[in-house]
Amino acid sequence: MTQPRVLVTGAGRGIGRAIALRFARAGAKVAVAARTSSELDSLVAEIEAAGGSARAQQMNVADHGSVEAAVWRAVEYTGGALDVLVNNAGVFDIKPFDKMDLATWRRHIEVNVNGPFFVTHEALDALLEAEHAHIFNIASVAALQAFPGNTAYCASKYALRGFSDALRLDLAPKGVRVTTVYPPQVDTPIWDKVPGAGNVAGAWDRAQMMKPEQIAEAVYQAWCAPRDTNVDELRF
Ligand SMILES: NC(=O)c1ccc[n+]([C@@H]2O[C@H](COP(=O)([O-])OP(=O)(O)OC[C@H]3O[C@@H](n4cnc5c(N)ncnc54)[C@H](OP(=O)(O)O)[C@@H]3O)[C@@H](O)[C@H]2O)c1
Repeated sequence: MTQPRVLVTGAGRGIGRAIALRFARAGAKVAVAARTSSELDSLVAEIEAAGGSARAQQMNVADHGSVEAAVWRAVEYTGGALDVLVNNAGVFDIKPFDKMDLATWRRHIEVNVNGPFFVTHEALDALLEAEHAHIFNIASVAALQAFPGNTAYCASKYALRGFSDALRLDLAPKGVRVTTVYPPQVDTPIWDKVPGAGNVAGAWDRAQMMKPEQIAEAVYQAWCAPRDTNVDELRF
């Protein structure tokens, strides 16, 4: 294939950043999106310093207007088509239900559920322009099982799983593959705000967590897999 055209949301840090770097290393043209420009600019600089191609695109996935404008510019950069869309942007707060508030609930639904819908909806024409497009939705093990203090996060990730699996049915006849990704705990800045998460023995020992590069490699390999390979899900 010629240079793959890729859009990664939430690419400023963590898993999204690792995925963007992995595709860039393989020669892709990568549009990287998030809200924090400084993180995107440093990622683009790193990719370009290594000889790759990337463009930063500020985007708030929870804001439809922002998504509309940003996807349009990203697709302009990739030349009108997208081979790969990675819906990775996400938020995660641990909050027992008796401490749950409307703002936390809404943020999870808006970013983790509405976000992938908005981005996929806006990117669809560009995905259909590609010969064999592939969408990755980064869910979580919290889309497969419940965890305490996770009502908002689990609800949002179970919803994303449903969206992703139904989307696969609609887009398969159009030749678009859809993979739902279920990472376990991964050592990224998402854990920085979680009280008790650190390099200490226990449930949230960051040293024991997977590395973002491992998720990125699995995503990249799924994209490379022959078309008769089942890549509906990535579990670790
Ligand atoms: N780390 C884990 O243990 C783990 C496990 C399972 C699943 N996941 C999932 O993997 C994905 C990435 O997680 P991560 O651990 O890499 O998180 P992270 O390190 O906190 O990075 C999250 C990325 O998403 C972006 N983002 C957040 N809100 C956004 C918004 N409204 N619009 C656009 N971008 C937004 C952030 O950038 P800005 O804040 O600058 O916008 C950042 O670039 C998430 O969907 C998460 O739920 C993570």
